[in-house]
Amino acid sequence: MPEVTLTTLQKRKQDGEKFAVVTSYDATFAHAANQAGVEVILVGDSLGMVLQGNDSTLPVSVADMAYHTRCVKRGNRDALIMADLPFMAYATVEQALQSSATLMQAGAHMVKLEGGAWLCESVRQLTERGVPVCAHLGLTPQTVNVLGGYKVQGRAEAQARQLRADATALEQAGAACLLLECVPSELAAEITQSVKIPVIGIGAGNATDAQVLVMHDLLGLSISGRTPKFVKNFLAGQNSIQDAITAFVQAVKDGSFPGPEHSFSA
Ligand code: KIV
Ligand code: NA
Repeated sequence: MPEVTLTTLQKRKQDGEKFAVVTSYDATFAHAANQAGVEVILVGDSLGMVLQGNDSTLPVSVADMAYHTRCVKRGNRDALIMADLPFMAYATVEQALQSSATLMQAGAHMVKLEGGAWLCESVRQLTERGVPVCAHLGLTPQTVNVLGGYKVQGRAEAQARQLRADATALEQAGAACLLLECVPSELAAEITQSVKIPVIGIGAGNATDAQVLVMHDLLGLSISGRTPKFVKNFLAGQNSIQDAITAFVQAVKDGSFPGPEHSFSA
């Protein structure tokens, strides 16, 4: 695959071709993701749970994210590397700039941050200074203590209205893409159509421009014993981890994943 850039992702959306995103935290899994044709590797702060064994993403530091971004960069060939800004690393515009500099210098091609319209100034300044931004909306795990748990967002009409407004404001501020986590499929479809930038979904139904899963989840590994509704085990029926990642990419591209059984209704 030629090197994936923001232009590639824009073109996928324009052409109505879905793209695949998967987390990796190290060189070997980054390589495996490349081999499977994944367009975007997410160095997610989910590593706080999956690798570090914490019960939330809050303990993750910028230094942790930079370390894993460097590891992923060494195993990557042509995927676009997106790195999460961790909890409280972008509480102010200044912090957002500084934390993003660290992650971009570690090998990220873009950063992801969680939140709505309050982030517009950070998104604007980051983009002006050369850092493309993905804005993560809906269930934002860094805010779990405010949300009162890991719950579907946007079912109430007031929340849905807020999500639509946040999506529009962030696009206007220059966000390069959006990520919607755990929102009803109908609302995700509506937002995807209403913005020109690519929308990545997880637990957001089938109509988004891309799908993301945590690598360990798609391989059927779970530390908690509880599997979220939006997860599918792609290793089942495959002979290798490589084949499982390839099956995920295929299912995203042909639209067979996620099915209604992996999605939420209003
Ligand atoms: O950290 C992560 O892995 C994420 C995805 C679940 C979207 O943010
Ligand atoms: Na994350």
